Amino acid sequence: MSYLETNIIVAKRIKITNHLADLGIDNVRKEIIEGLNAGQKYISSKFFYDEKGSKLFEDITQLPEYYPTRTEKSILKEIAPKLMSGLKNTDVVELGSGDCSKITILLSAVPEENLESIQYVPVDVSRSAINESAQQLVEKFPELSINGLVLDFITQLDLIPRKRKRLFLFLGSTLGNFTKSVASNFMVNLSRNMNAGDSFVLGLDLVKPIEILHKAYNDSRGVTADFNKNILNALNNIVETNFNIVDFEHDAFFNKEKSRIEMHLIAKKDVVVTSPYFEKKILIRKGENIHTENSNKYSIERIQQLAEITGLKIKNVLLM
Ligand code: SAH
Ligand code: TRP
Repeated sequence: MSYLETNIIVAKRIKITNHLADLGIDNVRKEIIEGLNAGQKYISSKFFYDEKGSKLFEDITQLPEYYPTRTEKSILKEIAPKLMSGLKNTDVVELGSGDCSKITILLSAVPEENLESIQYVPVDVSRSAINESAQQLVEKFPELSINGLVLDFITQLDLIPRKRKRLFLFLGSTLGNFTKSVASNFMVNLSRNMNAGDSFVLGLDLVKPIEILHKAYNDSRGVTADFNKNILNALNNIVETNFNIVDFEHDAFFNKEKSRIEMHLIAKKDVVVTSPYFEKKILIRKGENIHTENSNKYSIERIQQLAEITGLKIKNVLLM
């Protein structure tokens, strides 16, 4: 997360541009402070992904309990030949790209002679994730060009280049981390941004038995708990708060009525939060919680509704 510097990194076949500073650090801090002062305290999940958070998330994806990543990867392996073998002169835009393991599966299905005409455009708030995956990808695919964009895809979608034909990827059920209304707006914005002939692959997790869901967000090694708590360290860096992660407990449960996993941090004792950017100290009482994440679990009907409000036509639904 680099909300302060604007920098461009250029190396052979790699260009990475950070647009986060355009958001204005004051606005970013204001957003955080508003959440901490709300009746139900909350922190936007985009703040999970500092360098450590991105690493911890990668660890989550490898946990035996966390079924979504391996399931989605096997779907990607299945669709890769059809999706990628004829691809040429295209920008492959991956929203919330994270590590490069999923794109590697897809790019491996592109014939070598076509790779030179493909530009991979990873889009993520995590500069470290984009840096690392770009380095790994150029080693594996020396003909590929990479144009990484460090930005917030909720508010800065228009910064994605639209001159060439594009294949958008939005995987990992990241759309499920948006509330219903943010998800609907996002889909409408993205479809408006798309040109005729562009395409979109969306990966979403479907609702399933509670026990499976519960384990996936309460792993036995406590990696998800570490990831959840680390958001407080990220806040300490951005707004100079004095959070101590040991004062909080990870809580993740399935909210059946809303069909979503909710993630919270519960205060183990009264906590007084200070920051040079606060008007006054914030008291979090023992037992009070901060809402950090939702992971909506979709139904096929809801996916169809999303498509209907966008004017995108569903070509294929693959279930696993
Ligand atoms: N696509 C990967 C990572 C999913 S985790 C996978 O499927 O495994 C979600 C990713 O989205 C993280 O890399 C995070 O940094 C990024 N992200 C979250 N909120 C974002 C936002 N508002 N703008 C841009 N990227 C965001
Ligand atoms: N998109 C992922 C999901 O909803 C994000 C995620 C997985 C996550 N595990 C998490 C977010 C733990 C916060 C905490 O499954």
